[in-house]
Amino acid sequence: MIAPCHNPTEVQRQTVQLTLDATKSAPERNRLGQFATPNALALDIARYVGTLIGEGKHGIRFADPAIGSGSFFSAALAVYGPKRIVSSVGVEVDRAFADAARHLWAHAGLEVVHDDFTRIVANGSCPPAPNLILANPPYVRHHHIDRAEKERLQRLALKMTGVAVNGLAGLYVYFLLLATAWMEDNGYAAWLIPSEFMDVNYGAALKHFLTDRITLIRVHRFDPDDVQFGDALVSSVVLVFKKAPPSPSDAPEFTFGGTIAAPHARDRIPLDRLRESRKWTVFPNHAKNDRHTLGDGSGPTLADFFRVQRGIATGDNKFFVLGRADAMHYALPAKYLRPILPSPRCLKATIINADDDGYPIIDRQLCVIDCDLPEHVVEQCYPALWQYLQTGETLGVRDGYLVGKRTPWYKQEQREPAPFLCTYMGRGTDDKQPFRFIYNRSQAIGTNLYLMLYPVRGLGAMLRKHPERAVEVHGLLRQVTGHELRGEGRVYGGGLNKIEPSELGRVSAVAFVERWPELRQSMQKLSTGCLFD
Ligand SMILES: C[S@@+](CC[C@H](N)C(=O)[O-])C[C@H]1O[C@@H](n2cnc3c(N)ncnc32)[C@H](O)[C@@H]1O
Repeated sequence: MIAPCHNPTEVQRQTVQLTLDATKSAPERNRLGQFATPNALALDIARYVGTLIGEGKHGIRFADPAIGSGSFFSAALAVYGPKRIVSSVGVEVDRAFADAARHLWAHAGLEVVHDDFTRIVANGSCPPAPNLILANPPYVRHHHIDRAEKERLQRLALKMTGVAVNGLAGLYVYFLLLATAWMEDNGYAAWLIPSEFMDVNYGAALKHFLTDRITLIRVHRFDPDDVQFGDALVSSVVLVFKKAPPSPSDAPEFTFGGTIAAPHARDRIPLDRLRESRKWTVFPNHAKNDRHTLGDGSGPTLADFFRVQRGIATGDNKFFVLGRADAMHYALPAKYLRPILPSPRCLKATIINADDDGYPIIDRQLCVIDCDLPEHVVEQCYPALWQYLQTGETLGVRDGYLVGKRTPWYKQEQREPAPFLCTYMGRGTDDKQPFRFIYNRSQAIGTNLYLMLYPVRGLGAMLRKHPERAVEVHGLLRQVTGHELRGEGRVYGGGLNKIEPSELGRVSAVAFVERWPELRQSMQKLSTGCLFD
């Protein structure tokens, strides 16, 4: 859609952008992270930065290291006016976009360099340092960056900024670091980037950079429910900072939802608090923020009462997991089959009852082959199982990455059935839980699409004595709010949430202690190091 606009070149740019986007397939656009910034948003960002730089007498030397068709340059021209922009440069690796940007904006003074920014920034051919960077760098995930390239980028970032970037970081992290190294001291920058770095371990180096090396001014995160800028921005954030050392009393402003000019929630977060916070998406802590944690980390958490473990990775579910009826049809020996839950998609119930054999009472019962006998024994004693395994050899199952490392290759990771499980990925907004808690009364285990929760310590002891309380435990798990689960987990583009065992363990368990105050005792013993389980 072309936004209403009075600048004819901007109107032309939006048409060119649409035309170029249409010439490329989705994988091609993904490879170079080619998702343009809507003009309205570029204008919002430019206006906000304008309030910081004021009307100073020094001219603006603008740069965008991933210029595309020039959405940010267009906004800078509109907001600051051509007279204030004394120089402007855009770098673009894709020839079609580089040519388009040059064609559109050369008359307004934009110099376009057709090259890879991460290379020219290092080899001395970079244009003079800018004092203003507005950028939406390519969002290329780490697994699309080949190994040699990643190592080059890591070495370069370390050399130019002293930051050791984790190998799981996407290309945007390198862009931000390298471009900041290039920028003039006391210059300003605004970056539109994915918000995932705010929550995940591999974002730690970037967060450290933002709190300790520059002056962070504003962090605005878009509301994933707000579609004003289309799907591409559901998990994006705008970072605004000045290239100057921070002062200890700084408290950058965190805002959420709405627009940059009129956010739905705002708060200032002192640097010290940011430094010790694992997750930044919980700021500002406000009912309107879709992610907040209840506790400050000091109260009881699920990890005090549950051992949380991922379900088993069979290495090939299609081969190892089969219908119980099929297994009977093939005459596979029951003692080397274990009941297993279907994928969360196919499991509608949240309370799973068992039949006399411990199998879940569900439409299609499944089992997983799990045998620790050596091959020659299987061949001799269990010809039907041997025959089935032979088909796996033919299909190449045995050569799979996980399977190939196991001895024997058809032996699974060992898990006891867990009375509670949690699906590890899902969607959900507001108070809807993105993950489902399941009360499992059967002997079924789960695949790695589930996290398995084993009650331990005081809770384990209580349930052994009062098994009937498991229903209430399940009820309390189901009451954990969607906000809190999302706050501890992580969100991916498109609003998909995931949660890892350690993250689920950090969810507050205050409700458990309120319901059964005696549980607090086992926690106290734990904190003095007296209790082992
Ligand atoms: C997310 S788009 C943003 C484009 C534009 N700045 C905007 O805001 O609409 C990123 C741009 O970076 C370009 N790009 C990808 N890798 C690059 C690289 N290594 N050096 C320079 N540009 C690159 C892509 O071709 C794409 O045009």
